[in-house]
Amino acid sequence: MIYADNAATTKMSKTAIAAMLPYLDEIYGNPSSLYLAGQKAKEALEAARQTVARCIGAEPREILFTSGGSEADNQAIRSAAQFGAAKGKRHIISDTIEHHAVLHTLKKLEGEGFEVTYLPVHENGIVRPQELEAALRDDTCLVTVMTANNEIGTIQPIRELGALCRARGVPFHTDAVQAVGHIPVHVKDDNIDLLSAAAHKFHGPKGVGFLYAKRGVRLQSLIEGGAQERGLRAGTENVGGIVAMAAALEEAVGTMEENAKKLAALRDRLIAGISEIPHSALNGDAAKRLPGNVSFCFEGIEGESLLLLLDDKGICASSGSACTSGSLDPSHVLLAIGRVHDVAHGSLRLTLGEDATEAQTDEIIAAVKDVVAHLRSFSPVWRDLCAGKGKFIL
Ligand SMILES: Cc1ncc(COP(=O)(O)O)c(C=O)c1O
Repeated sequence: MIYADNAATTKMSKTAIAAMLPYLDEIYGNPSSLYLAGQKAKEALEAARQTVARCIGAEPREILFTSGGSEADNQAIRSAAQFGAAKGKRHIISDTIEHHAVLHTLKKLEGEGFEVTYLPVHENGIVRPQELEAALRDDTCLVTVMTANNEIGTIQPIRELGALCRARGVPFHTDAVQAVGHIPVHVKDDNIDLLSAAAHKFHGPKGVGFLYAKRGVRLQSLIEGGAQERGLRAGTENVGGIVAMAAALEEAVGTMEENAKKLAALRDRLIAGISEIPHSALNGDAAKRLPGNVSFCFEGIEGESLLLLLDDKGICASSGSACTSGSLDPSHVLLAIGRVHDVAHGSLRLTLGEDATEAQTDEIIAAVKDVVAHLRSFSPVWRDLCAGKGKFIL
């Protein structure tokens, strides 16, 4: 099997598994318990907080452990909205290619009387800082723009966007779920006030993540109950998961430079090979994209069929985000970069992992070429296009 869907989730690293095991076995105490077994768990939790903080340039007290990226996104956005509203500020700025954890939260807030401006991302999938600057208002209580996109891999100019927000005193949140552990993220240098991350995207376990909130940026709890996480996230902590997340992140950050270099070379090899397919196009900026991300649209095919046939050849890929696979709606991200519905349906996302090889890349290229040609051979849409009935878009 060739696993090329690392944006959906990653395999846990050996280091993360080894770090986790003692907390599933001998050190199983509740961190809130006062006896030694509980305190050992508490110590592990605080050590993990220090590690996570160090990896993103934060202070330990600025890290709040959550169940993953979605919870962190919800909490960051809801908190900024609530504290903004208390000051009469009900305007939020975001963009059109955010993950649904952000977009659906914003939709709910719109129903509660907030106004949201969605910045365009243009054909290359990138927000323009001057457009953020023009959209900022005196009643803006939050700007939320993702660090890197989960479908097309584009990397936003976070530092510049953050600086614009800081100059206006507006909290800046970034969903860095796809970025942390893959590209450098430094909350202080990058002018970030709130940041969301999820362990399973950087070889940690599923169901655990964190929210960074700059000291002085207030949070509200989404879950009522005990006083864990300074009263900001009730519930007994996922000690093993948190310890494993910290180990995975430390490892990912330590090997990032070398891995990114290798992955970018394999990514570009894949892009060059797949580009040879006629009437295909790369989605998103060719340079400002995650090291392992390849996203294409092909004319005259159905993305779902493409995935099934690739699966038959032992290749795990995706047509968009894992969350939208299975839905008939074309990806909002592909529509936002200007792909028309038919073309957006024929999409393919390949996201490489650190253990990918050149031989695997070549195998993927051959398989994609083969499957696209096969699907086109009996596609009525393709036949019509070739017969001159209708125009090729790509
Ligand atoms: C950009 C982005 N944000 C948020 C999430 C949600 O993270 P989680 O599945 O950990 O809740 C994902 C997961 O796919 C993502 O890619």
